[in-house]
Amino acid sequence: MLAAKNRPAAAIPCSGVARGKHMASKAQSIKLNEHGYKVLTLGRYSFSRDEYFAHIRWPGGSHLMPVDRFLRALMRDVAWNFFYGIVNFDEVFGTVNHYGTVDVFAGLFNAGYRSQNKHFVENLDGELARATFSQMLEDWTIEGFDPFAAPEETGLPFGPKRGNNQRAVTRKRVVAQRMVGLKDDTPVRTDANGYTVNRQFADVAQDEPQVHAEPGFEDEVHAFNFFAYLSRSDVTWNPSVCAVVKDAMLCPTTEEFALPVIHGNDRVEWFVQLSDEIHWEIADRDTGVPRARAVMKPGDVCAMPADIRHQGFSPKRSMLLVWENGDAKLPELYATGQLKPHPIEF
Ligand SMILES: [Fe+2]
Repeated sequence: MLAAKNRPAAAIPCSGVARGKHMASKAQSIKLNEHGYKVLTLGRYSFSRDEYFAHIRWPGGSHLMPVDRFLRALMRDVAWNFFYGIVNFDEVFGTVNHYGTVDVFAGLFNAGYRSQNKHFVENLDGELARATFSQMLEDWTIEGFDPFAAPEETGLPFGPKRGNNQRAVTRKRVVAQRMVGLKDDTPVRTDANGYTVNRQFADVAQDEPQVHAEPGFEDEVHAFNFFAYLSRSDVTWNPSVCAVVKDAMLCPTTEEFALPVIHGNDRVEWFVQLSDEIHWEIADRDTGVPRARAVMKPGDVCAMPADIRHQGFSPKRSMLLVWENGDAKLPELYATGQLKPHPIEF
């Protein structure tokens, strides 16, 4: 439950569900501070925001982040249900997904904190943590700010409490069961359902393929214009599940400006750059020591290893295809060395 000072840094699935559920029985106290924002507690953490910063406190330490960066990271962590592996909000604070429970940490993957034994990590029930983070996101996001939008397409989050942006922060991440556009599955994007072509994809053709299925196979044979679909994405840095075959998930996303989290992998991820350009900074997952820079241009493919953290920068809105493997056994296979962290050797 409390700081596991010597907890291994690797993202190993743990069996802390019972401990996490125990936490859920502890009601959290909610009060408003002088800026009008809720002060929230989660386990032994306390979260507050003022006009410019999010403040995080835990027994023995505290941290602050510019609130725009914090809310953009929080938006992804909530929408992705803690995603795969580690979501570093910055170099200090973040979460490790154990798929049922979640570690909320400070300094766990920071070599300086670790060397001084100042890191703090608490394993919590995933639903409790997500509910608390959702509440924070809804209260701390003020009118006019959309943490999923590109900076040029939204307002600012600074100042005292002023309204909210419920529509923006409660967006559901697209998760296709089989494929976008199939019967009873997530729909294609059109002007009519509110997804207009983004300003930076005005040149993307919008024609749709013709599908001529044999009678009886109308719901099985399917195609759609993938580029047109992506050109209508209203969010950035949000891999959405658009086609699924067993554990293989095609998760395309449109990117602009900076990935608001530093993702620590617990499996290999494949990236295919579909348009424009992304610069990736790649570092050791556990220490943050830089390992590589990769500049991906259209057609480039890369396999991000299972033992790295990475952050991307997209100078112009670009299209990226992320290929995820959802096999629940993978984190342990990598953490125990049964699989090499990279899928290919040159
Ligand atoms: Fe990643």
